[in-house]
Amino acid sequence: QSEPLVLGIETSCDETGVGIVRGQTLLADAIASSVDSHARFGGVVPEVASRAHLEAMVPTIHRALDTAGVRLSDVDAIAVTAGPGLAGALLVGVAAAKAYSLAAGKPLYGVNHLAAHVAVDTLEHGPLPEPAMALLVSGGHSSLLRVDDLTGDVRTLGSTMDDAAGEAFDKVARLLGLPFPGGPHIDRRARDGNPEAITFPRGLTGPRDLIDHPYDFSFSGLKTAVARWVEAKERAGEPVPIADVAASFQEAVTDVLTRKAIAACTAAGIETLVIGGGVAANSRLRQLAEQRATKAGIRLRVPRPGLCTDNGAMVAALGSHLVAAGLPPSDLAIAANSSMP
Ligand code: KG4
Ligand code: ZN
Repeated sequence: QSEPLVLGIETSCDETGVGIVRGQTLLADAIASSVDSHARFGGVVPEVASRAHLEAMVPTIHRALDTAGVRLSDVDAIAVTAGPGLAGALLVGVAAAKAYSLAAGKPLYGVNHLAAHVAVDTLEHGPLPEPAMALLVSGGHSSLLRVDDLTGDVRTLGSTMDDAAGEAFDKVARLLGLPFPGGPHIDRRARDGNPEAITFPRGLTGPRDLIDHPYDFSFSGLKTAVARWVEAKERAGEPVPIADVAASFQEAVTDVLTRKAIAACTAAGIETLVIGGGVAANSRLRQLAEQRATKAGIRLRVPRPGLCTDNGAMVAALGSHLVAAGLPPSDLAIAANSSMP
């Protein structure tokens, strides 16, 4: 068998993910989430996440090996998210990857979480035509990336100036009394709402903004606008139309994300757009991106929702690309880097 067998470990936030790929074929994607432990706090608590990773790490690795029907000794390389993410959470994955790498004598590849969110798409849609544009939207990031080479040349064209898109979803959900993480709940409630019921602001889309910040995002003003609107309703003693607020808010976010992503492709003459990260699971984002990409003659690639949120398969996918490209492994002394660019 010529294609490398790669095990990938992801612990940058609240999911303990272990994926196994052969080349770009997915064999296993085991996940243990501590999301329920964070729900009552309304956000991910770093200490709780680290402890949960510690407990879940070894069982999740075994579960992935069992599912893939392989042994650790069969694995050709171990990849791990080295950053960016929560420092204490990353440390657990990096320490585990080093231990397995050393014990089994397998090369170790520290990878970038954001690049992995892009790389996971090749498991589903095959080789990525480069250059490509990538819109990465998650609980911690909202960035437009230019991908000239997935294994080394990925540049940030723009990112959020304040809240990440997923963070905005989570905060607005909380405001509406929906559980954490709020993105999927807003998505669901919005299906019964009118996206044009309320006109919420589109951050950084004014004429001056489009010159100074063509590919940057801002969602905190939108979040505040939703809060004010809901407060006004409550003060007037009127019921809050949750479905309409959810749909109108979701429309504002997805309108700006897709508009800027398509504009970036058109300006650079790039014909492929990949969307990744947890918010890429959003049904309206997928629909609007599809419509606008088709109109602009751009090929859109969005992995299935289960691969958009954090997982180990994405890390294994990127690791496999690095091995295939013949890149040297990382040093065993590699450190987790919570603010990796
Ligand atoms: O990529 P991810 O799993 O973790 C991070 O790296 O942050 O993304 C999690 C984020 C959360 O903010 C969650 O609310 C959001 O993705 N999300 C969604 C949907 N599914 C997950 N946001 C909007 N619509 C969805 N269907
Ligand atoms: Zn992520």
